[in-house]
Amino acid sequence: MQVFGPKRMTELLTADEIGRAVELLRAGELVAFGTETVYGLGADACNAQAVAAVYAAKGRPSFNPLICHFADAQTAFRYVQANALAERLAAKFWPGPLTLVLPRLPDCPVSQLAGAGLPTLAVRVPAQPVARRMLAAFGGPVVGPSANRSGRISPTNAQHVLAELGGRIAAVLDSGPCPVGVESTVLDLSGDAPVLLRPGGVTLEALQAEIGPIARASGEASAPASPGMLASHYAPGLLVRLNATALGPDEALLAFGPPLPGARLCFQLSERGDLQDAAARLFEGLHELDEKAQALGLKGIAVQPIPATGLGLAINDRLTRAAAPR
Ligand code: TXA
Ligand code: MG
Repeated sequence: MQVFGPKRMTELLTADEIGRAVELLRAGELVAFGTETVYGLGADACNAQAVAAVYAAKGRPSFNPLICHFADAQTAFRYVQANALAERLAAKFWPGPLTLVLPRLPDCPVSQLAGAGLPTLAVRVPAQPVARRMLAAFGGPVVGPSANRSGRISPTNAQHVLAELGGRIAAVLDSGPCPVGVESTVLDLSGDAPVLLRPGGVTLEALQAEIGPIARASGEASAPASPGMLASHYAPGLLVRLNATALGPDEALLAFGPPLPGARLCFQLSERGDLQDAAARLFEGLHELDEKAQALGLKGIAVQPIPATGLGLAINDRLTRAAAPR
């Protein structure tokens, strides 16, 4: 079946059309897939353009870090630094509705945008057999935020996904209804002690029975994505100045469109002024300018105006946080 939407057709794939799903993912397309919790909006996590398209399809006003899905723990731990607790929980609860936040390994190829520029990555091995076969065939990490538009209810069957995103994404891999129906539990194991970031399909009690006491993040699910915490995590060291129309002598330039003249250090988000290109390159750009500016004695980053429409909203949200006084 094909659903005709405003922009394109969305293919409804049956569980034996995994090859087609993988082909689309490899081509940078978006493929929603069922997990045991909810349907995820899948894309190649290493392809920043594809990840940017995920945010665009969801209409997210900000860039939350996304979960990377893998076929098994062995593959997941090639991308993040596992520790004893992670090994133990993975052995007990994977495949299943548990997501672990761990430090990225050096040279981890997952796009900065997928992790929203954080030094950590959320990884999970879902239990849904069709999803696992797709992930195994794909071989690498697949991002998968819930396959709904921003601010709407998470979809638990393929029809929900079509209603939300039909016409905006390439395909939905139909694996039937989701048995758990609430999202995975998110546990941060990147610090000194484990912290529960989001309650979900695996209970806190079950986790504690395995590894002992677990602290709960103040706030709840969205806490790590709240402005305060995000700012401390990935605000660049340099001062960020938005809507710059001229460049100060000690400023690096984050360009959008034709660059302002006179920059000693410039990172171009999108010469042709494309918001999806810019989203895909945003965190790379902030990291790179931050890294190189010091050697040149630069003290700030001037950002050229970026329209606050479509993905531009999320880009400006992120930059506003980076620019917030510290
Ligand atoms: O059940 C699920 O987890 C579903 C299915 C599709 O797998 N996926 C899902 O993904 O709920 P998403 O992107 O909607 O939720 C990601 C959660 C958010 O609460 C986010 O803040 C947190 O994980 N998260 C992701 N990366 C993180 C990181 N590096 N540090 C802290 N929290 C992170
Ligand atoms: Mg969601």
